[in-house]
Amino acid sequence: MARIVGGVGTTHVPSIGKAITEGKQTDSYWKPFFDGFPPVHRWIAREKPDVAVVFSNDHGLNFFLDKMPTFAIGAANEYRNEDEGWGIPVSHAAKGNAALSWHIINDTVNDGFDITMCQEMLVDHAVMIPLQLMWPMGDWPAIVPVAINTVQHPLPSMARCYELGRSVGRALASYPEDLKIMVIGTGGLSHQLDGKRAGFINKDFDTLCMDQLAADPESLTRYSIPEVVELAGAQGVEFLNWMAMRGALTGQVTQVHRNYHIPISNTAAATIVLENAGTAARHAA
Ligand code: DHB
Ligand code: FE
Repeated sequence: MARIVGGVGTTHVPSIGKAITEGKQTDSYWKPFFDGFPPVHRWIAREKPDVAVVFSNDHGLNFFLDKMPTFAIGAANEYRNEDEGWGIPVSHAAKGNAALSWHIINDTVNDGFDITMCQEMLVDHAVMIPLQLMWPMGDWPAIVPVAINTVQHPLPSMARCYELGRSVGRALASYPEDLKIMVIGTGGLSHQLDGKRAGFINKDFDTLCMDQLAADPESLTRYSIPEVVELAGAQGVEFLNWMAMRGALTGQVTQVHRNYHIPISNTAAATIVLENAGTAARHAA
């Protein structure tokens, strides 16, 4: 049976890609952020996940405002990146696992989620930057990309994204192949890229979100989308991806690492590692 080993939440700011290309990890601006990753690398080296399910939002590379699915899941054996115009190099493609994707799509649709299934899908910085941060040698595992609309209102609620994650988690735990699976939520934390509040960051709310993510994620479902926009900024709603990641951790969850640094570009940069124990036992119960 497949086993969900844990989840990682991380920021996906595009300029991180530039810093990696230019080898700036130890420059004073970047060091406090990149210093958050060796513990993630050690955790990955210990757990050796075969597949990563990546909850993120597309920023216009694959879906644009004319056609925006609320939830879309890739069902391909390869996911290409393309030039998004941020001045970062185009990454090599990520491998997929179409069989696992279809299993997740079947189960989530069966659970009442109307999934857009994508046999071709481009993945943008919201997938590529986290992969580069977590696997700096480029040896990332196969991925299943799950795109959540955090861009065009109306957005799915905190509760709905958490429930989507739970449905994905149940699908993963019932997958018959012996795979070790990790889940990733990308984006956030608080940030706003334009308008009167450009540059807005809310450390108190970010701290509360990270505290509750491990201990009591359901408490976060009381925030409406307008409240999240107000408290975390217009793009801080990317935290929806973290809610889905957390929902997929269906076992006993413990935080094993956290880093928080303000700012990277316009964003409160955060990293968290959540371990997931005893999935099979919990599911049998
Ligand atoms: C930035 C943050 C994002 O989440 C993103 O998708 C693009 C840019 C930023 O802070 O620059
Ligand atoms: Fe983003």
